[in-house]
Amino acid sequence: MISTDLGLVDIHSHFLPCMDDGSKSVEMSREMLDHPSCASYVVATPHFYGDVSVEAFIRERREAFNSIGKTDKKITFGAEVYYYPSMGHSEALKDFCIGGTTLVLIEMPFERWTTAEMDALISIHDNLSLSPVLAHVERYTPYQKKGTIEYLAENGVRIQSNTEFFIEDFKEAYKMLSSGLISFLGSDMHNTGSRKPNFDEAVSLIAEKKGSSCLEIVSFNCRQLISNIKWE
Ligand SMILES: [Fe+2]
Repeated sequence: MISTDLGLVDIHSHFLPCMDDGSKSVEMSREMLDHPSCASYVVATPHFYGDVSVEAFIRERREAFNSIGKTDKKITFGAEVYYYPSMGHSEALKDFCIGGTTLVLIEMPFERWTTAEMDALISIHDNLSLSPVLAHVERYTPYQKKGTIEYLAENGVRIQSNTEFFIEDFKEAYKMLSSGLISFLGSDMHNTGSRKPNFDEAVSLIAEKKGSSCLEIVSFNCRQLISNIKWE
């Protein structure tokens, strides 16, 4: 599989059963992981909206994973944490980092961000010494001023795009990738239908159209994750 050969990690997924709007059952979770386009290394990132305690979330995440049983995929845990105003000073974010690293996946509001919202995101880097990763960048760009994503990237925010972006709008997605803005890719897979695993499909498409060297930055970042994380 090309994504495995390039050492890529799917850092955004909702395959854990019955935790959020992702997989609806253990069977669906297994199907997602067994799908030919599912990456070999997958970070489980259920949504965290702050409606349960951090402890309960972590316990449920572990139980959901255990319920799937054996898989040949390498899995580690993270979360897709929805924006909250105090997040730049919130030690709790450390509990959501990907596989014990300093990377934490953040989902921002789907509207034009205020300066305060962007400052909160940047503060995760500046105050907490973590690396905020902006989830599915392409879903916010229509609302933002030109240069917003570049500004965040210059201030310590890492950028993740969904693999679907490459399948649906290759030109725009490649423009962002080739500019060096994208640090990570994620399938954001939710089910086996409308938001099915497509990680390897997208990586194959990129390699076919532009050559795999354009994934050098993503590959470098992912190889670091692969060697630094304790995988399940
Ligand atoms: Fe997501």
